[in-house]
Parts: sequence; C-alpha cells; structure tokens
Amino acid sequence: MSSVRVARDDDWPAIREVHRAAFGGGRRTGDVVVSLVDELRADPALYVPDLSFVSMSGDVVAGHVMNTWNLVGDVPVLQLSPLGVLPEHQGQGHGAALARASVDAVRERGEPALIVEGNPAYYGRFGFVRADELGLLPPPEALYDSAVQVVVFDEARLPRGQVQYSAPFRR
Ligand SMILES: CC(C)(COP(=O)(O)OP(=O)(O)OC[C@H]1O[C@@H](n2cnc3c(N)ncnc32)[C@H](O)[C@@H]1OP(=O)(O)O)[C@@H](O)C(=O)NCCC(=O)NCCS
Repeated sequence: MSSVRVARDDDWPAIREVHRAAFGGGRRTGDVVVSLVDELRADPALYVPDLSFVSMSGDVVAGHVMNTWNLVGDVPVLQLSPLGVLPEHQGQGHGAALARASVDAVRERGEPALIVEGNPAYYGRFGFVRADELGLLPPPEALYDSAVQVVVFDEARLPRGQVQYSAPFRR
C-alpha cells in the first residue's frame, strides 16, 4: 500500500538512496542519477518543489519522482524524470502512484502537457503517447525516438519543436 505526498527537505537523504539503489548497475548508474536530482533541485529555474513527490511504505521512502522544466522549441514544458523505486519495494504500485500523482498535479496546474523519456510499455498506461507523432521531436540525448513521450492536457496550447533537455540532463 503506497501513499504519495510532496517531498520535504528532510526526505532528501532517503530520496538519494532511492535513486542510488533504483538505478544502480544500469546504463545510468545510481550515482549519476543522484547527481542529477541534486543539480535539478539546486536550480530554482528548473525545480518545482510542489511537483517532487515521495511514495511511502509506512515510514520508509520507497519511491520518488520529480517534474522539472525543459524546453520544446523555446517554450518551457515540464518533464517527469527521474522516477525511482527501491528495488525491494518495486512491483507494489509505488511507481504507478508517483506517475499518476505527477500527471494529475501537472494537469491541475493548467499546463498543456507533460513529457517523459522511458519505456512506452510502462508509461503508456498513464496516458503518455509518442511525442514525435505530435510534433515534439526527440532531443539528441534520447535513447531512442519512441521513448520520448507526452501526455497532452490541452492540444491547442501544445508547443511543437525539438525537445531540449536542461543542462543537468546533458551532463
Ligand atoms: C520503473 C519503476 C519506477 C517502476 O516502479 P514500480 O513501483 O516497480 O512499478 P509499479 O509497481 O507501479 O508497476 C509494476 C508494473 O510495471 C512494470 N514495469 C516495471 N518496470 C518496468 C520497465 N522498466 N519497463 C516496463 N514495464 C515495467 C512491471 O512489469 C509491472 O507490470 P504489471 O503491472 O503489468 O504487472 C521501478 O521499477 C524502478 O525504479 N526501476 C529502476 C529505475 C528506472 O528504470 N526508472 C524509470 C526510468 S526514469
């Protein structure tokens, strides 16, 4: 059973451990993702405190997600990244609860869209579709084109152009 809330400052040691463990051993090692979340959080032009969520399992921070500003062309658009769940808590709905909290909160802010780069087999269930088919072209850093996805809340205000990742994602 997961419960999601906005992350607090005193959650940050646990949040770092979530990403270190979740991404450890992969292409992006855990330490790289820990640096990424620290850099994003340190930049008030990128970080939105109300869109940084933890999923709790009792007193344990089991998962974390943040939604930060990137660009489509020259228009700021929020992107869900990174999303991580402690390995021993995976497969219990924490990732889904964090993704849904992100989608709901970004919609409620009145944003036209939310971007994600990840496995379409996972993110499709939250309403994400291929971004390039809607005119949002993948950035050079994308692992593969169909990984860049978008959930659209207001098509009339959806910017078109190339997705540009903020500096922490390009390091
Ligand atoms: C991906 C991740 C966030 C999912 O969190 P989770 O809490 O384990 O996921 P949930 O319990 O909500 O959902 C489990 C479902 O997702 C599927 N799933 C988990 N990881 C997946 C992946 N990388 N690709 C596709 N499907 C995946 C499971 O097969 C399961 O499917 P089912 O519901 O059909 O049985 C978590 O596994 C994780 O931290 N992985 C390492 C870091 C990572 O790759 N993050 C995503 C990229 S930013």
